[in-house]
Amino acid sequence: MRDAQPRATFLQEYQPPAYFIERTELAFDLYEDYTTVLANLHCLRNADSTADNSLFLHGEELELQSLAIDGRPLAEDEYQISDKGLLIHRVPEQFELSIGTRILPQDNASLEGLYKSNKMFCTQCEAEGFRKITYYLDRPDVMSEFTVTIEAEQARYPVLLSNGNAIHEESLANGRHRVRWHDPHPKPSYLFALVAGDLHYIEDHFHTMGGREVCLRIFVEAKDLGKCQHAMDSLKKSMRWDEEVYGREYDLDIFNIVAVDDFNMGAMENKSLNIFNSSCVLCSPETTTDAGFQTVEAIVAHEYFHNWSGNRVTCRDWFQLSLKEGFTVFRDAEFSADMGSRTVKRVADATVLRSHQFAEDAGPMAHPVRPESFIEISNFYTLTVYEKGAEVVRMIHTLLGAEAFRRGSDLYFERHDGQAVTCEDFVRAMEDASGVDLTQFRRWYSQAGTPLVTVRDDYDAEAERYTLTVTQSCPPTPGQPHKEPMLIPLAMGLLGEAGNLPLKLAGQAPDAETADNTSTVLLLSEPEQHFVFEQVRERPVPSLLRGFSAPVRLDYNYSRAELCALMSRDDDGFVRWDAAQQLALSVLDEIQQQLTDGQEPSVDPLYLDACASLLADTSLDPALVAEMLRLPTESYLAELAAAEGADVELIHRAREALETALAQHAESQWLDAYRRSVVNAPYAPVAEQIAARSLRNLSLYYLACAKAQHIGLAQAQYAAATNMTDRLAALRVISQRGTQQQSDEALDSFYRDWQHDSLVINQWLQLQSAMPGEGALARVRSLMDHEAFDLRNPNKVRALVAGFSNNNSLQFHRPDGAGYAFLAEVIEQLNTRNPQIASRLLNPLTRWRNYRPDRGELMKAQLERLAALPDLSVDVYEVVSKSLQ
Ligand code: ARG
Ligand code: ZN
Repeated sequence: MRDAQPRATFLQEYQPPAYFIERTELAFDLYEDYTTVLANLHCLRNADSTADNSLFLHGEELELQSLAIDGRPLAEDEYQISDKGLLIHRVPEQFELSIGTRILPQDNASLEGLYKSNKMFCTQCEAEGFRKITYYLDRPDVMSEFTVTIEAEQARYPVLLSNGNAIHEESLANGRHRVRWHDPHPKPSYLFALVAGDLHYIEDHFHTMGGREVCLRIFVEAKDLGKCQHAMDSLKKSMRWDEEVYGREYDLDIFNIVAVDDFNMGAMENKSLNIFNSSCVLCSPETTTDAGFQTVEAIVAHEYFHNWSGNRVTCRDWFQLSLKEGFTVFRDAEFSADMGSRTVKRVADATVLRSHQFAEDAGPMAHPVRPESFIEISNFYTLTVYEKGAEVVRMIHTLLGAEAFRRGSDLYFERHDGQAVTCEDFVRAMEDASGVDLTQFRRWYSQAGTPLVTVRDDYDAEAERYTLTVTQSCPPTPGQPHKEPMLIPLAMGLLGEAGNLPLKLAGQAPDAETADNTSTVLLLSEPEQHFVFEQVRERPVPSLLRGFSAPVRLDYNYSRAELCALMSRDDDGFVRWDAAQQLALSVLDEIQQQLTDGQEPSVDPLYLDACASLLADTSLDPALVAEMLRLPTESYLAELAAAEGADVELIHRAREALETALAQHAESQWLDAYRRSVVNAPYAPVAEQIAARSLRNLSLYYLACAKAQHIGLAQAQYAAATNMTDRLAALRVISQRGTQQQSDEALDSFYRDWQHDSLVINQWLQLQSAMPGEGALARVRSLMDHEAFDLRNPNKVRALVAGFSNNNSLQFHRPDGAGYAFLAEVIEQLNTRNPQIASRLLNPLTRWRNYRPDRGELMKAQLERLAALPDLSVDVYEVVSKSLQ
């Protein structure tokens, strides 16, 4: 057990900094066995601060070598060092602080601060990594103008990069060289970056709307030069889009991206020097799936968009993280929607929200979009802060309308350019620009938990009046037993026999924004409200939560016939998809009941016929059809069953039964869809092709579920594939549904073909982590000893270990608890080496209360075992202890 309990930080306790650092000059000397950092900090007392004249600088894992104020070395009694930082007892009003430190990047396995990935040096400073580089006011409200000098051996590290512009380069006599960078834009330390390595680049240019010529470069290892074009294209599209949609122009003459193999997250928006996990920037048709291409496009855009929403206007403190992340995720989601299929993107995002963020909101780590306290901020880079945060911004967009929202964002950027601000500042700018009162809406930032919206209806045929009664509630979450009603925009329509009906809300003018008048947004603000529609000539089916207009759970007692109607005829693509999902859930429920009662499962033909006709309708978007026919995952089904205690075996058996029934019932339609969805054009990651491949590969999967002989189709596709989407889809089908021998042969041949490409092999690892059968855990364990695995590389850990615990529900939840023990073992190994990754791996165990007690207790036992470790990292401590509370 830890001896001292780590302390939480509270939003309430925020204090402005007592000192500012106006200019920061850093000199790095990089060597193989150590690095020295000389920091010259031009400090100035904050005139508004009432604090005393001591100065505390954050610093961790640093070896202090020199310390001087205005050139005068400090005596030992003038300062004090702890494992958190450096306290200087007295400092003047204005002074130059010089600090020399020595660090060991080559031994830094946490991938935070300065570290080595393969042979290159790189940094990751968000949120609090800069303090592992030098003593500093490592907080986002201290913004400084950086000048950075990097010195290293020329042959090993020909490329030396930092933020801003290169202002000086020289070769030194001893085989070393030196480059100096200057970033004219003051920035917090978390946006600092440094890269040194033997890197190669592709280059392009962008002309901004204001006439600036920007040089764009993507730096990679030589072997990866052929995988950069898509990221470059995505970058240029993002730059254009941000000008067109937000009026935001790039503000320097260069923009660099660097690909790094060992990276804890997806990417980082360091000013003018974005650093990317190589899995989020490199791609090629031969090695990358459609989903991979889309990820690259979205993340390149996300990091680029941060240049305004994050860098030019940054966060005052880390409680405000969603200020930049929620807004930027909203921006990148809209960008992706504009580049591809809007409905499919919305469905994908809603799926993530519902299956993962809602679970977070209902679990022990639940927190508001703007958290009130944290022990380790790295644990709060969450789906709630990012994805729910984006939904909150989307709701503001819905409430204000596109034009007023744009005025709001213009005002926000104008008012706060160069500042470190709060979520409140964002909301106020939106209010000021639009005149819309967002007082009640602000609860979305402060209240955790997923609201439940319950809808009941009543149709008065004689009066032609249709009434919706809508109630809302929000379950208690840790520290928040009682919730106030939220302002919820509920987009809706009414479906009649011949299509969507015109809407006439009693006491309201027709909605001016929707030309066809068949869609409206109801504003829910009270625990219970009634909405009366007039001149409704037939009993309609309500089409609710169109476009997933709010991150809420919706409850309306649809009959299966009503769901079929919505699924086949509603105008709103999201509602159609959602109806298909709900229909599947209702059928799955029934199957579970049958299995529980010891009966043979029988699947409602209504569902099977609806699916078959969907599949046969070639007028529909194949991508949406595929999404509608994809069954909910076992882990999502377990979340839904949490209240009664999820039974993993029952869920698995029911889902298998439904999958088989759907496969066999529509076999000829699947075969037809498979055959007609061939893409003949050369591979391109464009919506039309992606849609065809997605339906074709889903069809292949169902065909293999229908009949063993269809594995032949998968084998043929595997052999003929010219792109990774089709190849990997075929391999997945063979490994999931083929015989042991078919599966082994295909997996071995894949490895032989791709062992030189680490990113491809990660996909191979991930695919195997989800393989069915009793032997799954043994396979995962043996893959951990495979030459292709490396515990230090987060992508590999995510692929194999998180892949197993998140996507292989039945085998992870083995009755003997061996799956849980395995996960805890890996967490223990990573606990001190890479606490961020160790902490993220914990996620499935935090759900222990959702399962039947036999499993729940075994899961809990592993959390307790971890809690008792002697050297528990703060990251793991926070999640483990909150999960056990
Ligand atoms: N700001 C980055 C992004 O959203 C994420 C960096 C998070 N890093 C971390 N260690 N928590 O693009
Ligand atoms: Zn971000």
